[in-house]
Amino acid sequence: MKSIQAATYPVLFQENAYSKLSNLIASKSYSSLFILVDENTFEHCYPKFIPNLATDIRIEVIEIEAGEVNKNIETCIGVWNAITELGGDRKSLLITLGGGVITDLGGFVASTFKRGIDFVNIPTTLLSIVDASVGGKTGIDLGVLKNQIGLFSNPEMVLIDTNYLETVTAREIKSGMAEIIKYGVTYDVTLFNEIKDNKNLNINDLIHRSIEIKNEVVLKDPKEQNLRKILNFGHTIGHAIESFYLESNTKENLTHGEAIAIGMVCESYISSKLLNFPEDKLNILKETILSIYDRTILDKNDFSSIMDLLKHDKKNVNGQVNFVLLTDFENHKLDCKVSEELIVDSLYFYNK
Ligand code: GLY
Repeated sequence: MKSIQAATYPVLFQENAYSKLSNLIASKSYSSLFILVDENTFEHCYPKFIPNLATDIRIEVIEIEAGEVNKNIETCIGVWNAITELGGDRKSLLITLGGGVITDLGGFVASTFKRGIDFVNIPTTLLSIVDASVGGKTGIDLGVLKNQIGLFSNPEMVLIDTNYLETVTAREIKSGMAEIIKYGVTYDVTLFNEIKDNKNLNINDLIHRSIEIKNEVVLKDPKEQNLRKILNFGHTIGHAIESFYLESNTKENLTHGEAIAIGMVCESYISSKLLNFPEDKLNILKETILSIYDRTILDKNDFSSIMDLLKHDKKNVNGQVNFVLLTDFENHKLDCKVSEELIVDSLYFYNK
């Protein structure tokens, strides 16, 4: 697969990527190399990764506990301490080997350690391949509030090796599919139709196209002043639902993609009410999503907690919830204000 040039770094695909990584390490004269993993990627991905690395410099592995609940400042403190105790300095390189938690948190840890050390992202889940690892967003959650703390900071390189996808569950793959659907409905309807029709889907092609789209959007608007907001489609309601399930002691967590898929149905419904997004397209999107994901029935007793979480969305200004909505596939309107009543209606619409 052809490499993709992002703002300051390349996104490289399997064949040549590892030799380019070894060249980068040699050319930058790093003092030491830290590899951030969780228990799953240490067991399943690290053994695939390490034989590909040609370097003489000191390598240290830092392991954190897997899962969104660990994407927090305590985990960062643990990693900063580990790097310090292991003699890390400003010329150290951090390689993140994992899903979105590892790449987001690792990028944040690297970008703030001694005012910033280099990092390389090696995403191992579909979600982190098509979204989290590309575009320069790094960060952690604050309690259950997603990605509230963080900064824009670019890696030196993103290395995509789809062989790592053999190590993740089908549910994780579906989680990443939600972001691909998002690129389709907001930016490239041909991509959405391929998924809807479910014919001859080639995962490598879906990945490459998704990263191309994300990169195009980020190059036009790196700091999310305007166009990049389309990448939040489905995420305003989706993040609130994800956070709600994360903090619930009685309900099983949803994956990020499962929550975002629900969010896309709800936000398309709101789009149809406020911006005349065509109803046939709303129904096609809902059917496509329900054909991929098990239906989660949202309990109406939980709606007020979900609404409370929505009020903390990062995109809110002056306490107003801000949505990006669709006027059509590939067409959007930014910064839409939506009444609480319509948001609740959209949750009922999803349940129906
Ligand atoms: N995940 C959305 C973005 O990177 O802007």
